[in-house]
Amino acid sequence: MPPRVHVLICIVYRRRISHDPQRCANIGTTKDRISDHMGLYSAIARPLLFRFPPETAHRVGDYALRFTPLWRALRPLLATRNERLNTSVAGIEFPNPVGVAAGLDKDCKFLPGLLDIGFGFATGGTVTLDPRPGNARPRVIRETGQRALLNALGFPGDGLEAAEKQLQRLPVDRRSQILVSISGTEIEDIAECHRRLQPLVAGIEVNVSSPNTAGLRTFHEPENLDRLVSALVAQRERPLLVKLPPWRNDEERSEMIPMAATSLKAGADGLVIANTHPTEDERLAMGRGGFSGAPLFGDTLRMVKDLRTELGKDFALIACGGIGTADQVWQLMQAGASAVQLYTSFIYEGPGLPGRINRDLVKLMSASH
Ligand SMILES: Cc1cc2nc3c(=O)[nH]c(=O)nc-3n(C[C@H](O)[C@H](O)[C@H](O)COP(=O)(O)O)c2cc1C
Repeated sequence: MPPRVHVLICIVYRRRISHDPQRCANIGTTKDRISDHMGLYSAIARPLLFRFPPETAHRVGDYALRFTPLWRALRPLLATRNERLNTSVAGIEFPNPVGVAAGLDKDCKFLPGLLDIGFGFATGGTVTLDPRPGNARPRVIRETGQRALLNALGFPGDGLEAAEKQLQRLPVDRRSQILVSISGTEIEDIAECHRRLQPLVAGIEVNVSSPNTAGLRTFHEPENLDRLVSALVAQRERPLLVKLPPWRNDEERSEMIPMAATSLKAGADGLVIANTHPTEDERLAMGRGGFSGAPLFGDTLRMVKDLRTELGKDFALIACGGIGTADQVWQLMQAGASAVQLYTSFIYEGPGLPGRINRDLVKLMSASH
C-alpha cells in the first residue's frame, strides 16, 4: 500500500477512536484499531446483510470480496504476519494456520480477497466436472442464536472449466496459498477435476463427505474410497487431502475411523476433519442438510484427538467445524491439528476475523513459552 494511503487510514482511525478516552487507553496498535472498527461489520454490515435471505447476502459478500484493490490496500492493516504463525501442511508452507473452508468460494472467484484479509490459505470449490444447479430452495437457513447455519446446497457451481479459468487468472505467488476442493459421484469425473486443477494450486482436497449430494455415500465404502484415493494418488503432483464426514457417536466413529485409515493407506497426504453435521430439518426443501458453526467445536476437538490417538502423527490434519477464536485454534493445535479451516464464523464475524484470531494466537504462543 502506498505510504500516504496508509498514513491517511491511520489518521482517520485515530481521530475516530480518540473521542473515547477509555478505548484510547486500551487500544495499542493501528491494527488493533482497524480490527476494532471491523466491529463495524457486527454493528452495521451484518444486520444489513442478515435482512436478506442467506444466499442473497452471500452474493453481496462475494461481490465485495471480488473488489481486489480494496482488500489489497487494507492488507497491511488487516493481516497479521509473524514468524511464529508459519504453518506447514503436508509440505505446503502457509503464513498462518487459519484457512477458509471449502464452499465459501465455490467457483474460485474471490480467493485473493480472502488471502488479503488475513487468511493463511483459502480453499476454493467444491468444484464438480459439470456445472450444477444444486438442490431445491430453501436450502440455506441461519440459526443466528447459535451462530450456526443449516445448508443443503448440493454443490451448485459453474463446473470445472469455469473454475479452471478463474484459477489460471490467479497471480502465481497467490497459488501457493490456495487449495481446491473437488468432488463428484464417479471416480473418472473426480480424477478429471484433479488432473486439470492440481497444476494451478498448492494442494487438492477431495470431498467425500457432503451430506447434501446424492451418490456421495458410495465413497463411505472402504473399497470405493480406496479406489478413488488410489486413482488420484497415481496422478498426484501436489499434496492430496481427503475431507471426511464427522462422527458423533460410537456407531459413526466405527464407520469414519476406517475411512480415515483407508484414505491414508491409499496414499493421501492428510485429512480434513470434518464436513457439516447431517441433520433433518423441515425448513429445508430437501428436509435435511448439514449443520455448521459454533456448536460443532467440541466434536471437532474430540475428532482431532481421536485421529491422533488412533492413527498417529504421521499425516497432515486440518480441523474444521465451529472454529472462531484463537483459543479454539490453540486447543486444536495442541491436540494435533496442523491447521484449521472455518466458514460459518466468518459469516457472523466478517473480514476482521482472521487477523483477530492470528493476533490473539501470537499472544497465546508467546504466553506458552
Ligand atoms: C453454505 C455452506 C456451503 C458449504 N459448501 C461446502 C462445499 O462445497 N464443500 C465442502 O467440502 N464443504 C462445504 N461446506 C462445509 C464447510 O466447508 C465446513 O466443513 C463446515 O461448514 C464446518 O465448518 P464451520 O463450522 O466453520 O462452518 C459448506 C458449508 C456451508 C455452511
